[in-house]
Amino acid sequence: MDMDSIRSACLNCELCGLASGRTRLVFGDGNENAEVMLIGEGPGEQEDLQGIPFVGPAGKLLDTMLELIDLDRSKVYIANMVKCRPPHNRDPKDEEIACCRPWLERQIKVVSPKIIICLGRIAACSLIDSKFKITREHGQWFDKGGIECTAIYHPSALLRDPGKRPETFEDLRGIRQKIRDICVRTYDSIPSGNT
Ligand code: URA
Repeated sequence: MDMDSIRSACLNCELCGLASGRTRLVFGDGNENAEVMLIGEGPGEQEDLQGIPFVGPAGKLLDTMLELIDLDRSKVYIANMVKCRPPHNRDPKDEEIACCRPWLERQIKVVSPKIIICLGRIAACSLIDSKFKITREHGQWFDKGGIECTAIYHPSALLRDPGKRPETFEDLRGIRQKIRDICVRTYDSIPSGNT
């Protein structure tokens, strides 16, 4: 299946209760040939209205974080654990994540990333380890079926608690180094002397 076919099929999805509350389904954004994939939690208010992941306040911060390591949305692919907005921005439930998982798996298969960056605890617990502790394990690397996976604090957490930003800056430096080590296209046009 190619990404357009997955998106078309997903647009009709009513596998869980979140479908009835959505304004728009938030499928994914960015470069489907990217070597780096970012996976968040679920759409917020702005994402639900626009149908694009990370376009609200957390998304603005995410764009800045990407810029810090010479990335932008043309160089990565961004998706969420669930594609419909949970009411009142509550955490998605395990069963909602499970219902949505096959869509995400198909997206991961198409993108075939070398690196997955989990944005926050929810994605890390689903994709890396159900016992993942974001406070202790952010920035560490885990090989999951040949894909190098890491997790950083969710941008919303960084908006709530700017004290976490220095640690995240270090994590971003680690991500940039990992990209330099194992990716071949992502930094193609970026001089290597950039620190
Ligand atoms: N938070 C997320 O986890 N994903 C979005 O798309 C927006 C906010």
